[in-house]
Amino acid sequence: MHYSHPQGNVFYRTMNHPRPMIARGEGIYLYDDSGKRYIDGSGGPLVVNVGHGRTEIVDAMMKQAQSAAYVHAIMFTSEPLERYAAELAKVVPLPEARFYFLSSGSEVVEGAVKLARQIQIARGEVKRNIVLGRWNSYHGMTLGALAVSGRPSLRAPYLDMFHDVPHIPTPYPYRSSATGVEVANRLEEAILSYGAENIAGFIAEPISGASLGAAAPPDDYWPRIREICDRYGVLLIADEVLVGLGRTGKWWGLEHWNVTPDIMVASKGTASGYFPLGFIAAKGEDVEQLRRKLGDFNHGGTFSHHAVGAAAGLATLQILQRERLIDNSATMGLTLGEALHAQIGEHPNVGDIRGRGLFWGIELVKDRATREPFPAAEGVARRVWKRAFDLGLVIYYSTGCADGKDGDVIMLGPPLIITAEQIDEMVRMFREALYAELDA
Ligand SMILES: Cc1ncc(COP(=O)(O)O)c(C=O)c1O
Repeated sequence: MHYSHPQGNVFYRTMNHPRPMIARGEGIYLYDDSGKRYIDGSGGPLVVNVGHGRTEIVDAMMKQAQSAAYVHAIMFTSEPLERYAAELAKVVPLPEARFYFLSSGSEVVEGAVKLARQIQIARGEVKRNIVLGRWNSYHGMTLGALAVSGRPSLRAPYLDMFHDVPHIPTPYPYRSSATGVEVANRLEEAILSYGAENIAGFIAEPISGASLGAAAPPDDYWPRIREICDRYGVLLIADEVLVGLGRTGKWWGLEHWNVTPDIMVASKGTASGYFPLGFIAAKGEDVEQLRRKLGDFNHGGTFSHHAVGAAAGLATLQILQRERLIDNSATMGLTLGEALHAQIGEHPNVGDIRGRGLFWGIELVKDRATREPFPAAEGVARRVWKRAFDLGLVIYYSTGCADGKDGDVIMLGPPLIITAEQIDEMVRMFREALYAELDA
């Protein structure tokens, strides 16, 4: 088997472990070049919505790449791009939705922050230049996206390099008994303390992604946030990068609360990993006003509106619809939740099991009664991740959920094509890894 070498020519984010060479993927499975099989239980970081080895997507990309692989968006449009946007407009709840395509979650977040600013300028609200964020959130690794993110450990080395923004708390029912309205009211307090005339927008994940591992807010949270944004003319930016496109059993995370944002961003599952693709969606009237008042959207992107990316996105969308994968996400999500409770619910270090659709988080704690987290130095989530990987199960993890430093969360988010039998196999394997690493 071939492994990357930590001192080879490539350097990675996690620098001190080798990684096997991937050979191929099929459905929910991956195979390395020794033939070892892995269940892709998280699609990496919640990316692979329609599964591996979908020739239909590859064919669509190849067709476009053969005819014209690249043109600059200032100069040309392409057939898959126009068709994809038209199809997306049917499933995105924004009226007369318009789309701007980029290549990653961080990029669409940065673009959405700039778009919020420009929509406000076009409305004559020229002082509005602050986009508020939340603690315990992640919106990306570029400096602008880090500024609105709320992960202290990721921000720390760069704090002096970006213009920070005010942050408010994120609802976290496992560790706080506050009602949704109480947490949402912190937005109003922040708006009033910085002056509504200075606030362009508020960005948040509808259901917390990697920072809090699938923690959903109380049901009264999002409606109150919408009310506050409307009252003060603040644009609500929904970061659907991780939870959008069916991951939580509905097309969009905010749909769980029947709340519509002003701007939406999506990325991870958009082209299911076949192409690095993301989009910003905005209301037609806002984009139209921007066009009339400002002429252009002051932004860019050499690889924006990529024709091959659009072909991949369109083919992915068609599979989601034809195979009714959003419904499968909802029903298999219930099966996954039940299996997790049955298989690992009694483990003394399992503090919380939470999730919707096919996005589940398992919070591991040192003491179940007090909810005391493990110290970060023990690397518990990472150890469980590694144990599962060695057994042939890919999961995702993060640390810092409890207080920004300590707190371990494991995430499961298999392709939306998964079957009940495969869920059973996946959860049994996860149980084995958990009990092997944290001896109960
Ligand atoms: C909610 C959310 N927003 C933005 C991002 C950034 O996306 P990317 O890693 O593609 O830049 C992520 C990535 O994990 C995310 O989960």
